[in-house]
Amino acid sequence: MEVQNVDLTISAVAEKQYPNTMFPEIALVGRSNVGKSSLTNVLINRRKFARTSSQPGKTQTLNFYNIDDKLYFVDVPGYGYAKASKASREKWGKMIETYLTKRDQLRGVIALVDGRHAPTDDDISMHEWLVYYGIDVLTVATKMDKISKGKWNKQESLIKKTLQINDEDFVLFSALTKAGKNEVWQWIEGRM
Ligand code: GTP
Ligand code: MG
Repeated sequence: MEVQNVDLTISAVAEKQYPNTMFPEIALVGRSNVGKSSLTNVLINRRKFARTSSQPGKTQTLNFYNIDDKLYFVDVPGYGYAKASKASREKWGKMIETYLTKRDQLRGVIALVDGRHAPTDDDISMHEWLVYYGIDVLTVATKMDKISKGKWNKQESLIKKTLQINDEDFVLFSALTKAGKNEVWQWIEGRM
């Protein structure tokens, strides 16, 4: 899809703030600092629309990005941020759980993992949780520019094996080189 207009409709902290449109929604989840905002920016062809940061835990609200009045990307605050307080982690959990399990407009979740490493326990729990709730998941292994091409296959096998996922639902990605961008869009368009 060629994106023309993008706008941050709302940074929501509660259900009543979610947009009352019927546009399909695609949520992005993953550990703090894994690259969710960077992936969003690549998909919409903007360098700095969604705020990115080298400091983890920046995004703390559900950010609804309206894409051409056709679709919403929902940037979900990252999990596994060690410095977050127990209270804020619990609040995070409730908000995400409500959104991911109750939102009729949700068509699928893009779950990001760091392509350089094996998925963490948090990544595995998140993936199992999404599958348990019958949510359509695309796993995106990102930051692939940071490892040599010769190692891509091995990383792909390791990640797929650890998360127990099949071919259709996996993309190797880099926000730097934009590798994998078209595959991610294909997956999204198949759900609109
Ligand atoms: P939170 O909002 O804190 O949960 O983080 P996030 O998942 O939105 O991560 P963000 O997109 O802000 O990226 C975190 C850092 O990783 C930034 O410094 C990005 O520039 C960097 N980064 C993200 N994706 C890539 C990538 O594909 N390649 C490289 N080399 N760096 C990346
Ligand atoms: Mg972010």
